[in-house]
Amino acid sequence: MMKNLKKTCGCGEISVKDIGKEVVLMGWAHRVRDHGGLIFVDVRDRTGIVQAVCDPQKSPSAYEIMKEWKSEFVIAIKGKVQRRPPGTENPNLPTGEVEVIVEYAETLNPALPPPFLIRDQIEVEEITRLRYRYIDLRRPKMVRYTYSRYKFTKAVRDFMDREGFWEIETPILIKSTPEGARDFIVPSRLIPGSFYALPQSPQLLKQILMVSGIEKYFQIARCFRDEDLRADRQPEFTQIDIEMSFVDREDVMDLTERMLQYAFKEAFDIELYLPFPRLTYVEAMERFGSDKPDISFGMELKDVSDILANSSFRVFAEAVKNGKCIKGICVSQAIPLTRQLVEKLTNLAKEEGASGLAVITLGEEFRTSRVAKFLTEGELHNLAQRLSAERGDTLLLVAEDWEIACSALGRVRGALGEQFRLKREGFYPLWVTDFFLFKYNEKEKRIEPSHHPFSSPLDEDIPLLDKDPLKVRGKIYDIILNGSEIGGGSIRIHDSNLQRKVFQIIGLDERTAEDRFGFLLRAFQYGAPPHGGIALGLDRIVALALGEESIREVITFPKTQTGTCPLTEAPAPLDESQLKELHLKIEEE
Ligand code: AMO
Repeated sequence: MMKNLKKTCGCGEISVKDIGKEVVLMGWAHRVRDHGGLIFVDVRDRTGIVQAVCDPQKSPSAYEIMKEWKSEFVIAIKGKVQRRPPGTENPNLPTGEVEVIVEYAETLNPALPPPFLIRDQIEVEEITRLRYRYIDLRRPKMVRYTYSRYKFTKAVRDFMDREGFWEIETPILIKSTPEGARDFIVPSRLIPGSFYALPQSPQLLKQILMVSGIEKYFQIARCFRDEDLRADRQPEFTQIDIEMSFVDREDVMDLTERMLQYAFKEAFDIELYLPFPRLTYVEAMERFGSDKPDISFGMELKDVSDILANSSFRVFAEAVKNGKCIKGICVSQAIPLTRQLVEKLTNLAKEEGASGLAVITLGEEFRTSRVAKFLTEGELHNLAQRLSAERGDTLLLVAEDWEIACSALGRVRGALGEQFRLKREGFYPLWVTDFFLFKYNEKEKRIEPSHHPFSSPLDEDIPLLDKDPLKVRGKIYDIILNGSEIGGGSIRIHDSNLQRKVFQIIGLDERTAEDRFGFLLRAFQYGAPPHGGIALGLDRIVALALGEESIREVITFPKTQTGTCPLTEAPAPLDESQLKELHLKIEEE
């Protein structure tokens, strides 16, 4: 086998400049056709496809071997590159002007017929693609995605290296310190009854590296979170994790912007323009009803509480009296708001906690809807003006607590943007800053961190920690691309007393805090520099750049929506002896 043969180049690399050259190709038989004696084989490898031809008159022994070839056989050929006869060129193939005249052929490995074709357009269930991922990954699109992801990662590394960052690994087996999601747990064999957790992110360890004086750290880090899965969520995913000392928010944001600009250009040839726009959390909610707004289209929310404060429509007047607010958006008459659509939008608003959606169509007399009948001409006029609405447009209003009113209309705006393709093509990154440090968990009746408990409050809000913690804003920033959260970070607390206070506010008593985070608090007492950082969701970024909705398309071996791997069949039961060794017993349900 492969007697003295060495592959000389990639199939897709051959061109007219190689005419007359002898080449050795190795790859897969993409397509085999027998045309009245002549055998044509498209030879494929990760660089592309080239046509090889064998004439039995000229190379009888190669012909005997090639006769046996079927799709996906692994093959080797030796032959000369020649220009294809006029009229037989294939303009759809980069190598379509040339072909290789086979002099010698060898079968390196036969193959079963593939369960689906190796081409971009296939109609196969995702589970089949994942079960035969090695075949799926041979498809040209997947080859391109695999390569683009590598290029992106490499560009990030190159950039970070130039900026003086060190790539440092942190452990995968750590102590369970839940960051918001559930941990994946690994039992210890050596210490019965004890468990490791897989990191939800390197958060605490990268902060400890700052205490070690590393100053500029980054890592392409695998993270694990046992949470409900969606198109943009996997149980294991990859972050570009960054931490820096002696910096403020501007430094982290500036570095992140330049890194993304460089890597997008290098890997995807996409231009991002700096600086990225910035909105505070409150502004983002006020204008777009979302903390991850898609700013590629308008339809912004407006506050109309003042206009309707004294309305004879009681729902509005009372809402304002009770400290709620009324927000509205204007839906252009170009969008057909059918009754069915209004119902769908109302349900979305309700999912965000609103009790309903008021619909006002501005007809000839401003009075075509039920709600409108209760409003005065003046009120309607002012509403139309505030929302830049014209006759024929429809106003959608929600009267609720500020956050609910905003997010309800934000959902409605998002759904309309999606359904009527209002989103502009292109890439629209932005920062959302000044998140509140805490949020109130209505269900569990307690205060919890809005991101994680290590973010620093804004200096001017520190006095509020005791008085009104829910009003405290943090030095927190999220980065959003086309309505998707691609990253988040903060300037951290580096003072162990302030950190203790934050734990106290979120209801972690001294003992529990010590138990969970004692190692961090201890480290902070030995000279912790001011520091901050960010983590970017690599899978999400690559998926967005390649125009894919699901991050599974850009992960070589992803899990299904139920967290299984159809290829390896993980997760799977352990056998009795393994369980015993781990001191585990499975309880029957
Ligand atoms: P955060 O939890 O916001 O921050 O995560 C950072 C980014 O990681 C991506 N991401 C995910 N991607 C795929 N599947 C998931 N399950 C998943 N979860 C998160 C998102 C998100 O914006 N330690 C902090 C960062 C810091 O403060 O430095 C952290 O992990 O794009």
